[in-house]
Amino acid sequence: MNSLMKIRNNIKLLYTSAEVYPYAGVGGLGQVSYFLTKALKKEGVDARIIMPKYGNIDEERYPLKMLYEGLKIPTQSQRDIICNIKVYQESEEEPIVYFIENKEFYETRSNVYGYSDDHIRFLLLSLSIMEFLKISTWVPDVINCADWHTGHIPNLLKVNYKDDPKLSKISTVFSIHNIVHQGLFDHKNTNDLDFDNGRGEIADLFDPALQKQNFMRRAIMYADIVSTVSEKYSKEILTPEYSEGLEHLLKEVRTKLVGILNGIDYTYMNPETDINVVENYDWRSSIKRHINKVALQKEFDLEKSNGPILSMVTRLDDQKGLDLVIEILDPLFLEYKDIQFVIIGSGDGRYISYFQKLEKKYPKRVGTHLMADFILPKKVFSGADMILIPSRFEPSGITQMESMRYGCIPIARNIGGLSDSITDFNMENISGNGFLFDNYNPYSLYGTIVRAIDQYNNIGLWRKIVESAMKTDFSWENSARKYIDIYIRAMNITNGPIDKLGMNYQIF
Ligand code: GLC
Repeated sequence: MNSLMKIRNNIKLLYTSAEVYPYAGVGGLGQVSYFLTKALKKEGVDARIIMPKYGNIDEERYPLKMLYEGLKIPTQSQRDIICNIKVYQESEEEPIVYFIENKEFYETRSNVYGYSDDHIRFLLLSLSIMEFLKISTWVPDVINCADWHTGHIPNLLKVNYKDDPKLSKISTVFSIHNIVHQGLFDHKNTNDLDFDNGRGEIADLFDPALQKQNFMRRAIMYADIVSTVSEKYSKEILTPEYSEGLEHLLKEVRTKLVGILNGIDYTYMNPETDINVVENYDWRSSIKRHINKVALQKEFDLEKSNGPILSMVTRLDDQKGLDLVIEILDPLFLEYKDIQFVIIGSGDGRYISYFQKLEKKYPKRVGTHLMADFILPKKVFSGADMILIPSRFEPSGITQMESMRYGCIPIARNIGGLSDSITDFNMENISGNGFLFDNYNPYSLYGTIVRAIDQYNNIGLWRKIVESAMKTDFSWENSARKYIDIYIRAMNITNGPIDKLGMNYQIF
């Protein structure tokens, strides 16, 4: 085994995030947390996960074992907090998952987010990780934390726990999945007095000042490496348009800023074997998708028709460009009598009521399922022809990769991870696996849908686009290897070049 492989195989990684599929998954972050660590494990990394044990985690389905009971989390107030650490591993191939148990802040809450004390709940996550590692026999080389909820970890390690012989050696990678959320406050409207420049002490768990701290800014400042979930987004967040006020800081630290596109799990998302689709197929037999299209029409009570089915599988959130979709649907239905539209997603009540009304207005042409679901998206990907992803911003985006794997063609905005994963169809050399548009306005979206429909009507050409989408490689393997590189780089920063540790190898 050469030295590089030795280093790679010896890395001990702790991944932490507020949500981790399947235990508590809300969106893309939950999926990435789980499938990335699984892929890292396959690459030989000792990758483990730590997360809160929320109230809806089913202990009958997941028999957790008690690892440490009565872990005391010190606070400056009268009351210390007590947590237990439980552990679970589904199988040898799956990462070990540590669960932090606390009645008041996690167990009595069935949701991951959305509580007025989320700043306390998530600082508690970071603090209990510190206290757990102090007594744990297993200590990671690197902690990869994700989004603002875990943002105090790099700060704690570099400042509060810097004299601890075990903890001070741990490196950190902070991954930005969504820069719009920086903590539990409105970062766009903070007055000078409340502005957190990240240099002061971390507020105590019960100090009201904690709510005003910018968890994300601190993470970017103190982490050894900052990563984002696509290369394009790592450039976009250096500009005021996408940085949410953090462009100056990000420019300062740009040498430690890296973009790695997310992947998707090729076993979980596989049209050849997926038991949730009516007719299995691969890129060679994509013609069979037609059977799934008929099944989808039945499922959503749509007319049997050969016209294109447009779809959306999304969080119903302003980020996702739903205001554009709302503007174009009526004119589109008017112009193309055979178009159908299916949407799956949960979120903002305004959007829910719009789509409910739309379904009534266009019976047999519009189908909705306005709540989260794990199975229905696969039916949509395997039966719909196109998926709309006109996001305002999109750090990575996962549905475009999932839908392409199943031959459902994305019509998406040319930004962030959408840009990095979709190649715009080019008529001249018949290349591309989707349709992209630049400007955030309804006309550009409408024009691009029309461009896609034109190709859809040419059956031979459309099959080529479908095949090309299905053949694009989005497996986690590539991305996992890039993460390993940044873990090694982070370890280098904390503990000096790896060769000093007795391994004759230097990457950077
Ligand atoms: C966030 C981003 C999305 C990304 C996901 C996982 O939800 O908005 O683009 O795919 O995180 O990284």
